[in-house]
Amino acid sequence: MQRLDKVLVETGRWSRKEAKELIRRGQVLVNGVVIRQPERKIEPEAAALTVRGEQISWNRYCYLMMNKPAGVLTATKDREQKTVLDLLPTALRRQGVVPVGRLDKDTEGLLLLTNDGVLAHQLLSPRYRVKKCYLVATDGTVDQEDVTAFRGGMVLRDGTQCLPAELEALEAGYCLVTLREGKYHQVKRMLAACGKPVRALKRLSIGALKLDDTLEAGHWRELTEEKVRGLKKAVQGDQTEQI
Ligand code: URA
Repeated sequence: MQRLDKVLVETGRWSRKEAKELIRRGQVLVNGVVIRQPERKIEPEAAALTVRGEQISWNRYCYLMMNKPAGVLTATKDREQKTVLDLLPTALRRQGVVPVGRLDKDTEGLLLLTNDGVLAHQLLSPRYRVKKCYLVATDGTVDQEDVTAFRGGMVLRDGTQCLPAELEALEAGYCLVTLREGKYHQVKRMLAACGKPVRALKRLSIGALKLDDTLEAGHWRELTEEKVRGLKKAVQGDQTEQI
């Protein structure tokens, strides 16, 4: 059960103030009955909502894929700098979507945003070991010794123990890194420990969810139900099927 004004805000169409005003004016019907108390509790999944004669749909959760551009902070707000939430329309911000985890300011690529706190927590928790794959440009080309060091579970300069990770050399100066955790600056610190500083970093996938390569930097789109299902599978251990 949830307050009626909150349900209206979560549709993304109205601010809290606007929602309260609509309700008090008698412009909101729940199951065909005018409700004038913003604090009235309703069951949003089951209730038929009408605002000024228009039927309104409400979804509990919203899931977005963004191609994060470099130069934008992974944060919900910042006084001076642009954040990933600044790239979203008001309606989505009102629904309470937040980034799942963090990409550095200079990192690009796949960023998930959602208001589903449970899935967000599971995707981030080292317990579920969800794979995150990055395309990396480095100074110097990685070699077999680096691959072995990644595979063995590296200890970083400050003593941080990393889980075993995958490193695959591509053409000179490029590699793919796959982690099953997300420690602070982890890819940069792991490669720095191998003497191969990172020049550029782009996340390509989370679990089986791949960054849509037609999605331009700074753009986003809602995930289909199928992709959301795929992500949920990743926290149940199935990260094989590409979605
Ligand atoms: N590892 C990093 O070093 N930076 C990121 O943004 C993501 C992973």
